[in-house]
Amino acid sequence: MVSIPYLLLTLAAISNAVPSVTSGKTCRQVQYDFPKNTNKHDPRAEAVKQAYAREWREYSKYAFPNDELLPLSHNYTNDLFGWGATVVDGIDTAIIMGLTDIVEQQLKHIASVDFTKSADIVNFFDINIRYLGGLLSAYDLIKSGQFPNPYDDDLVEELLSQAKSLASAISPVFDTATGLPASTMNFSTGEIMKSTTTVNGTKYNSTNTAQAGTMILEYYRLSDLTGDESFRQHARKAEKYLINPKPAPAFPGLIGTELDTETGNLITLDGGWQAGVDSFIEYLIKTYIYDPEDDMVEQLLDFWILTVESSKKNIALSPYHHPELTFLSQLDQNGTIMSSMDDYACFAGGNLLLGGAYLDRPDISELGLKVTDSCHWLYNTTVTGLGPSTIAWYNEHNKAYEKTYNKNSTTRSYAAKYGYFIEDPSYRSYPEPLESFWYAYRITGDKRWQEYNWEIFEALNTTRSKSVPYAEISDVNAPFGGELVNYVSSFYFAEVLKYLYLTFTEPDVVSLDDYVLNTECHPFLKKSACKSSEN
Ligand SMILES: *[C@@H]1O[C@H](CO)[C@@H](O)[C@H](O)[C@H]1NC(C)=O
Ligand SMILES: *[C@@H]1O[C@H](CO)[C@@H](O)[C@H](O)[C@H]1NC(C)=O
Ligand SMILES: *[C@@H]1O[C@H](CO)[C@@H](O)[C@H](O)[C@H]1NC(C)=O
Ligand SMILES: *[C@@H]1O[C@H](CO)[C@@H](O)[C@H](O)[C@H]1NC(C)=O
Ligand SMILES: *[C@@H]1O[C@H](CO)[C@@H](O)[C@H](O)[C@H]1NC(C)=O
Ligand SMILES: *[C@@H]1O[C@H](CO)[C@@H](O)[C@H](O)[C@H]1NC(C)=O
Ligand SMILES: *[C@@H]1O[C@H](CO)[C@@H](O)[C@H](O)[C@H]1NC(C)=O
Ligand SMILES: *[C@@H]1O[C@H](CO)[C@@H](O)[C@H](O)[C@H]1NC(C)=O
Repeated sequence: MVSIPYLLLTLAAISNAVPSVTSGKTCRQVQYDFPKNTNKHDPRAEAVKQAYAREWREYSKYAFPNDELLPLSHNYTNDLFGWGATVVDGIDTAIIMGLTDIVEQQLKHIASVDFTKSADIVNFFDINIRYLGGLLSAYDLIKSGQFPNPYDDDLVEELLSQAKSLASAISPVFDTATGLPASTMNFSTGEIMKSTTTVNGTKYNSTNTAQAGTMILEYYRLSDLTGDESFRQHARKAEKYLINPKPAPAFPGLIGTELDTETGNLITLDGGWQAGVDSFIEYLIKTYIYDPEDDMVEQLLDFWILTVESSKKNIALSPYHHPELTFLSQLDQNGTIMSSMDDYACFAGGNLLLGGAYLDRPDISELGLKVTDSCHWLYNTTVTGLGPSTIAWYNEHNKAYEKTYNKNSTTRSYAAKYGYFIEDPSYRSYPEPLESFWYAYRITGDKRWQEYNWEIFEALNTTRSKSVPYAEISDVNAPFGGELVNYVSSFYFAEVLKYLYLTFTEPDVVSLDDYVLNTECHPFLKKSACKSSEN
């Protein structure tokens, strides 16, 4: 059970850590004031680093330089346009860990790729969060002087020039009536491919909220590093439709997942913090923190606060007879509360804690702790110690949204015991709870969050040690996870291993006072980092 005294303790720790504004608007400390050498020689950091080295060797042996490793068949797949997604997504983790031989191999590969060509239909979202995010972050980290840098300067500069040529090659996606990006493009012809959504029998050319609202951080950084303002302008144009939603969403600030690219109107009402909306909300506060002096970010911040306050009022819900749990429900296409949540929404706790600390809003931090604790509960109550893809619960009237669950004795008894029940029991190497526990640790200083991340690391190791330590699994409540899935996503290297490592290493490594992380865990130097503004 989530214990209330824990919550109170952590809140006390938060108010001690509440940042004072140290140099005007540009530098606000959000990290807890850790004593020096807090995590000195923590063997857990070394264990995570060894895991990266071991798993990179497997990728290197069977899959390099293809996109992703198929760990069971010892083969590879090129499902991310064939440029070596695992290399580009995973390089910054290796930089932070000081795995210089591996980074050398990765830099050479990156310099050799032609990012303007692919035989495939490319997807803008993945290009942005994995490839552009990975390239820009590797560049920032090496250039920061905070990590070992025995690398050839020309190879390091290639990171930025490759990011620029990739972003230029994908720019036709913005050639829509509104400037909202199309989802996909034929990279051989430069032709954009419009995706469509049918609502109430009408077919719309559409794009997705997370897609349109998850480039602003990467595109701001790209403009700031290259001096080319066109990237920033693309992102701002798209963002305007999202923060001025038409028609009004079912609840203020909780916009749905699909937009009409011809008019900019929202065409569905399925708001919440789940996949499809998630990183749009995430970036509103992060872009503000990245550059509080920018002339658009006040509007982004206002919308984030609206979303958070509306979430607290409308969709932050406790299951029937389980007031100790707080989940963030998703809404259906018509804006009805579904009393269900996916694992992706577990990023919300960390995002709320970050914003709560930055803005000195203890009410927001408190909500952040509640939802983070509830995500821990999801992991803590399964056989494997790993969390399910989707859960649901019975609402305050003891009713499920999907009527079939009202008479289901299995889900009834599971929910009576744990507060929730499982809709989809698979586990796909999800980083989101690791992410929120990491933010909670760095912001409150409370070591229990480190314990939680260690429990997940051990669960990964135990669950899969029978054969392949990093394969995805089909059922979190089956011994050893049921069936192993023949797939290792590039975000295992980018996110899972990085959040874990950063939890156990010194807190000044990728400090939240200096960096803001994209949705794929790629750290960008803030435009006015605390350290650099003090110098
Ligand atoms: C490995 O994957 C490649 C590309 O999909 C395929 O052509 C090849 O047959 C596979 N090899 C094995 C042994 O499965
Ligand atoms: C992409 O364009 C090429 C060149 O015209 C064409 O051969 C290919 O079929 C296109 N792909 C799709 C999925 O439309
Ligand atoms: C969707 O895009 C296609 C291709 O550009 C265009 O022909 C069509 O008119 C658009 N549909 C609507 C409803 O605007
Ligand atoms: C679809 O129909 C519902 C119910 O009548 C309505 O509330 C909603 O606005 C409609 N959506 C669109 C995009 O027309
Ligand atoms: C939303 O409302 C429309 C129109 O009333 C209906 O056809 C549709 O089934 C509803 N969708 C859901 C998910 O309830
Ligand atoms: C649940 O959490 C407790 C306290 O952190 C821990 O001792 C226990 O091992 C966890 N169980 C699982 C299955 O993760
Ligand atoms: C009850 O729900 C579980 C979990 O979704 C499902 O596997 C099972 O088939 C359902 N049982 C019945 C009788 O519908
Ligand atoms: C991971 O599993 C291996 C094999 O069972 C074991 O030797 C090792 O100690 C485990 N590592 C951790 C950190 O639990």
